[in-house]
Amino acid sequence: MAFFLRLLQRPMSNVGRSLLACPGRVSSYRYLSDKGKKNKFFFMSWRSVLVSAGLGGIFLGSMLYVKAEKQSILDKERKREMGKAKIGGQFALTDMNGVRRKSEDFKGKWCLIYFGFTHCPDICPDELEKMAKVIDLLEDKTKGIELQALFISVDPARDSPEAIKQYLAEFHPKILGMTGTQEELNATSKSFRVYFSKGPADVEEDYIVDHTVIMYLVGPDGDFIDYYGQNRTAKQIVDGIEFQKIKYENSKKKGILGVL
Ligand SMILES: *[C@@H]1O[C@H](CO)[C@@H](O)[C@H](O)[C@H]1NC(C)=O
Ligand SMILES: *[C@@H]1O[C@H](CO)[C@@H](O)[C@H](O)[C@H]1NC(C)=O
Repeated sequence: MAFFLRLLQRPMSNVGRSLLACPGRVSSYRYLSDKGKKNKFFFMSWRSVLVSAGLGGIFLGSMLYVKAEKQSILDKERKREMGKAKIGGQFALTDMNGVRRKSEDFKGKWCLIYFGFTHCPDICPDELEKMAKVIDLLEDKTKGIELQALFISVDPARDSPEAIKQYLAEFHPKILGMTGTQEELNATSKSFRVYFSKGPADVEEDYIVDHTVIMYLVGPDGDFIDYYGQNRTAKQIVDGIEFQKIKYENSKKKGILGVL
């Protein structure tokens, strides 16, 4: 308010002084004085635009920074939890075609891993049928997930690569069977926290291998990502894998754009 009053007063006094000093130059003096004010206004408004933009930028910047910071804390938390679990890891086994396979060979693919044995009466066939269904559902063009299904035998005494190949042919051509020495299988099971225990043999030398019934999802980096228990349906597993894929791809988008 005071500013406007001064504005009103100033030209008057200027005019008054000019009138006294030099009557003929009133208009030009007034013109100059008004022009000077206009420039000042112009300058001030630009300055305020710049200041506002600057403040806005700082605000937006700090908001993004806080968001990024929050995300990195969450990520660290998650990594710490995953680190605690420490499921999965490197393995070296022999596939059903007699080819030596290392975990690194599957990098870049999503792996769904199931541990079992070919003489398994009900559970393994059920789980392998479910695995076959998961493969088919994911093969639907819209999903676009390259999945490698692996079946790892925990019964090397009976499950030769040939026996595994024959057995898996009943379920799905894309399930790759794996076996190894008892030592290799012990190490692989241990890293996946898979429990297995050979039961007593009956009169026909048949025995059961009690084992953990879980499907493990390993991401394209070779890290364990998720697991699916016996009570999950194929559809639920597919949804779970799709969800993990989206999460994985978002985490790969580096920088602030990934955070947004
Ligand atoms: C494999 O593990 C079982 C018990 O989990 C153990 O009895 C056996 O000695 C181990 N075999 C090898 C070769 O490490
Ligand atoms: C499967 O079982 C576990 C516990 O046994 C339970 O926590 C989980 O919610 C079940 N999942 C489904 C999809 O039913």
